[in-house]
Amino acid sequence: MTSGQLHAFKLNNGTEIPSVGLGCYMGSNDFTEKQVYSMVQKAIQAGYRHFDTATGYGNEKQVGEAIRDSGIARSEFYVTTKLANGDHHRVQEAFEESFERLNLEWIDLYLLHWPQASTGDVDFSQINAPKMALPPDAHPTFVETYKEMEKLMATGERKKKLLFLCGDREQGRVKSIGVSNFSIKTLEELLPHCSVVPATNQVELHPCLPQDDLKSYCEAKGILLSAYSPLGRSQTFFAEQPLIAGLADKYHVTWAQIILSWAVQRGTVVLPKSENEGRMIANITLLQLSDQDMHALNTLHRQPGMHRSLVPFHADYGGVFGWTYEWLGWKMAKGGYVLEV
Ligand code: A2P
Repeated sequence: MTSGQLHAFKLNNGTEIPSVGLGCYMGSNDFTEKQVYSMVQKAIQAGYRHFDTATGYGNEKQVGEAIRDSGIARSEFYVTTKLANGDHHRVQEAFEESFERLNLEWIDLYLLHWPQASTGDVDFSQINAPKMALPPDAHPTFVETYKEMEKLMATGERKKKLLFLCGDREQGRVKSIGVSNFSIKTLEELLPHCSVVPATNQVELHPCLPQDDLKSYCEAKGILLSAYSPLGRSQTFFAEQPLIAGLADKYHVTWAQIILSWAVQRGTVVLPKSENEGRMIANITLLQLSDQDMHALNTLHRQPGMHRSLVPFHADYGGVFGWTYEWLGWKMAKGGYVLEV
């Protein structure tokens, strides 16, 4: 078995991203600053060097603080944060705020968290009444927002022209940009306008939602897929699947190690969240699965009722955070079940 931290994937701009990172979404807005600080501190001690946060997680400050306080060189870490839906109209300012909150000299990866813009922050407790989301044709569109993010990557004279902020401090403040929650449909709309191809697309991804079509599409475009909620956001769902329980017994590991190893072995980054030291260590201690076992996991979603999302943000109207599945380009029915074609 190897520590997932030792393995890295190469991005389309030549930089590298560790295959396992700690997802820093705390599961709700009900957490303390101390809890986040302690989670990141423990993860660093356990060997994590890759952390995935977002403006919307409300904890960039504590993530940055724990990394700084570790005394380990900044260059050892890989840190991702994301632009919130309510900030699409103010990309430069929102980036500046994230940059200040993290206070880590640079941000390795800055993602457009969702394609949909909203007039305020997403309220995770109001998934069925997301009245603030703007429709796809409202300005700024996600293409316009992404074009603003590209300006963060510009260098030299071009940067001086593009940004109202200039000077030495601008150099290398963000190493890569990318997207999250994009489908083939929204990427098809975005890519013709890109001068910087997104380095990654972060989506929900696990054996019930392997995202096979999106994965092939992204690979063809040079975009790396990364997985949020790679364990299905539950401590029991996959543990109770006979296939996964059987493989855990066979390899003498936990069900979570089977799933994370599968995801990394098929070439995707995984970002499991954990506050528990033992589970953190397990989640970066991955193994090589046989071709036959990879195949069994690749096809688990074909069992009746298994091809589905496992996260709780699907609204009753049939969509997520104010957009319909159709607008998002997610081939899903109510509850997040994938429409089989
Ligand atoms: P905990 O923090 O108590 O470990 P996400 O979908 O945001 O990645 O969340 C993952 C969920 O799975 C969290 O509730 C986390 O809880 C739990 N978890 C993380 N790693 C493991 C593991 N190895 N075994 C069982 N549960 C896990």
